[in-house]
Amino acid sequence: MPVLTSLHIKPLTTAIGSEILGVDVNQLDAETFEVIRETYNDRGVIFFRDQHVDSDQFIAFARRFGPLTSSKFNPKVDGYTELAEVRKEETDTKNIGGGWHTDQAFRDVPVMGTMLVARELPDLGGDTMWLNMALAFDALSEGLKQTLRGMRAVHSNAHVFGVKAAPDEIAARRGMVNLDEASNEATHPVVGRHPENGREVLYVNPTYTTHFDGWTVAESEPLLRFLYMHITRPEFACRFHWEEGSIAFWDNRQCLHYALNDYHGEKRLMHRLMVEGPPLQ
Ligand code: SIN
Repeated sequence: MPVLTSLHIKPLTTAIGSEILGVDVNQLDAETFEVIRETYNDRGVIFFRDQHVDSDQFIAFARRFGPLTSSKFNPKVDGYTELAEVRKEETDTKNIGGGWHTDQAFRDVPVMGTMLVARELPDLGGDTMWLNMALAFDALSEGLKQTLRGMRAVHSNAHVFGVKAAPDEIAARRGMVNLDEASNEATHPVVGRHPENGREVLYVNPTYTTHFDGWTVAESEPLLRFLYMHITRPEFACRFHWEEGSIAFWDNRQCLHYALNDYHGEKRLMHRLMVEGPPLQ
């Protein structure tokens, strides 16, 4: 039976995110994969449940979307160069990704997509949330949109987990490596056009964006604070509850994400892949 006949797409919210039901990611024909890719470009984040993927199958699925890349800061799964661990132990108080961000914004070409598979989950909690940054941009006034279109912003990792980070922040990221080399900085337009769906997207985030290009940090702060209050309106968001066998794949060009840290005393382990692709234009 062709896989497409059992495919069912279930939006999580009106704003962002769809579950792709009735498929096995290990056995996708070209037609079904194309529908999945279109849903990803359209909905910003897609979810699969009840998947049985070992590391090689997970990598093979992610590679269908584009070439893989990796972060030198996250520890890798033994024997793999691109498959990273996102781990919180029972004794850790902080988690990785526990603030709104988009992955690798501090690179000249940020990663296109990130794929996560749940390997070990707490009994309760540990959900992840996403925001639709095109919808957030649409909801601004024409005047502010026009101002932002002419601006660029600086994004850095040094204050997050590099040499300028507070020592306890570094300690909290136990397991991360090469942190003394975290000094990447990149400048990107504050508003970009999504290369696939053509929508204008607001590209700033509270984790990595330090200031507007040509503005001081102090000058940038009030406008950034307003934008962060605006983008985190609940109607731009979705929230996903992970189960054994869940996979999420999100588009870093049009979404921010946030890993909730509400399961202290329990372990959570995810495996992560990052996929390259055309950046915002
Ligand atoms: C991340 O920010 O990459 C981690 C997301 C998560 O663990 O849910």
